Amino acid sequence: MGELYWDNAGILVQPYGKEWQIRRRMLHQALNPSALKLYKPVQEAEAARLCRALLDQPKSYEGLIDRFTASVVFSIAYGHRIDSMSSEVIRQRLEFMQYSASLNVPGRYLAESIPWLKYVPDFLAPWKAEIQRKGREEAATNVALLRRVQDELHNAKRPSDVPDSLSKLLLEAREADPATFGVLSERDFSFVPASLFGAGSDTTASTLCSAILMLVTNPQVQAGAHAELDHIVGMTRLPTFDDEDNLLYLKALCNEILRIRPVAVLGGTPHANSVADTYKGYYIPQGTTILSNSWAINLNPTYYPNPHHFNPLRFLGIRPESLSYLSKSSPEDLAEMSPPRPHPAKEGHSSFGWGRRICPGAGLAHNSLFISLARLLWAFEFRPAREANGAERRYDTFAYTQGFNIRPQPFECEISVRSETHRQVLMAEGISAEKVMNRFPPFEE
Ligand code: HEM
Repeated sequence: MGELYWDNAGILVQPYGKEWQIRRRMLHQALNPSALKLYKPVQEAEAARLCRALLDQPKSYEGLIDRFTASVVFSIAYGHRIDSMSSEVIRQRLEFMQYSASLNVPGRYLAESIPWLKYVPDFLAPWKAEIQRKGREEAATNVALLRRVQDELHNAKRPSDVPDSLSKLLLEAREADPATFGVLSERDFSFVPASLFGAGSDTTASTLCSAILMLVTNPQVQAGAHAELDHIVGMTRLPTFDDEDNLLYLKALCNEILRIRPVAVLGGTPHANSVADTYKGYYIPQGTTILSNSWAINLNPTYYPNPHHFNPLRFLGIRPESLSYLSKSSPEDLAEMSPPRPHPAKEGHSSFGWGRRICPGAGLAHNSLFISLARLLWAFEFRPAREANGAERRYDTFAYTQGFNIRPQPFECEISVRSETHRQVLMAEGISAEKVMNRFPPFEE
């Protein structure tokens, strides 16, 4: 996938080295903590649009979540929002992602075990010609998207007339400092903003789908989040990022979702050791493919007692009794707050990976998860669907898709607005959100 499909342009599958470092530095421009502050208005507005749309189409929650995360990353990458998942620009992206997912299956191609096969001429290796043809198609689309932003900058009276985005930032940086930012070819350069959608849209959406499944099947957790939102935010406005420091239970809930259902279930793209190593008596030659099993780590009872229990208190950091609005916790819930050994990462989990390849979009993903869940939970109640006989549906919370990135199999649930006051606030905030997003017009088809 890295060598034949993306011709070494995609950061996700690039070996460690100078080329990878250049791309990582470019992404850091857009995803460092001070840049993340700039995107908060977009994330708040898109979360309000998500809630507003959910009022009318509660059954389409999955598609609405996909649009929300796609629009956030597209606005950041290119300065253009996404209004529909069936727009041409998204249709193409999804097709490329599906294709790369079909390649991203260890052992599917013999060339992985016998690398010289990649040098066999195309007429003897139609499989290779097809991968390269698709790769050229994706590269052309990436370049075309970047050129559109380039044209906008060229035609604008003032640069400030063009919405801020990673593409704009990198194009301006390249003009000002060609020695640092001009080292990549146009094609390779265009892969940097494109990587945001590939790595950041489906991952965040899948995590939100897991959140809904967990809320539907854990009403006591949902009640805790509602109590917190009612106490801290009240009924007359939507929560904002300014509430974050006070929404402790909600923040813990976001981490518990990342733990219990890590979307990159095997730690994301496989790693390889750059030097030979010996671990617990096993000799691991240099270049061995290593999958880091996030699923197993996140369900290790040493770090997380009773690990299949969905319990945000694990990440609360303070005793729940000190939050007057939470109802009394059971002794079992409280016991899960004290693991035999704490997970060694600062965040208390490693669902965003490890070391120098750790997810550069973790901060952005956290913010999207926090603001969308805060607003969804503020506005709605999520309940199990009813069977024909009126009984509440029972869910298999392990019914997930297969692959490197997982999401729940589509499931129905009942999503209803919490009160008429909440509905009125959503209608009004929906209009303000449209105004914010007018600054990021969709790409013309
Ligand atoms: C809930 C959402 C997300 C999860 C759980 C997640 C998780 C991960 C994981 C596990 C990795 C592999 C790390 C490793 O190899 O050790 C990764 C890599 C990456 N992620 Fe994320 N991610 C999420 C959202 C995002 C977002 C929003 C962006 C950007 C906008 C992003 C951009 C990337 C990139 C570019 C890489 C490759 C980094 C490299 O190879 O150096 N991710 N992510």
